[in-house]
Amino acid sequence: MSEIIKTTEIARKYVMGAETIHALKSISISIKKGEYVAFMGPSGSGKSTLMNIIGCLDTPSAGTYILNDHDVSDLDENELAEIRNKEIGFVFQTFNLLPRSTALENVALPLVYAGMGKFDREERAHEVLDGVGLSDRALHKPNELSGGQR
Ligand SMILES: Nc1ncnc2c1ncn2[C@@H]1O[C@H](COP(=O)(O)OP(=O)(O)O)[C@@H](O)[C@H]1O
Ligand SMILES: [Mg+2]
Repeated sequence: MSEIIKTTEIARKYVMGAETIHALKSISISIKKGEYVAFMGPSGSGKSTLMNIIGCLDTPSAGTYILNDHDVSDLDENELAEIRNKEIGFVFQTFNLLPRSTALENVALPLVYAGMGKFDREERAHEVLDGVGLSDRALHKPNELSGGQR
């Protein structure tokens, strides 16, 4: 199987005035296509920092990150946004859904930025909602869904 996520000695430090926090020191991980992986550790051990880097919301201060054969270690904000749109699905702890948009509109939104037309977006969003058993909740707002449905 091919590696989809590969980090080599990545580090992430947060500089706060005179203090530097080394949230990640030297993390090398390799995840193959189809693998399920969980990061576990105590509060403050760097799980969110690592997830932000793997999810292309942040970049490492040192080391390299190869995502699906692309070096994404050192991209600017716009380049990272494009990679996220094409390569990453991310469920946040607090979901980050748009509260006044329906489930269908929330699911279809990233396709706007991918340049897909309205008809195709809605069709695709219906398909994926159907795929997770949520066809009958397509027109519900996030606060009308259960935690798991969100
Ligand atoms: N934006 C930030 N600025 C400064 N320090 C941070 C920031 N985010 C996280 N940290 C620090 O980095 C360390 C790792 O945090 P985090 O990745 O959120 O851990 P976890 O998700 O495992 O609880 C902690 O010591 C935390 O205080
Ligand atoms: Mg966390």
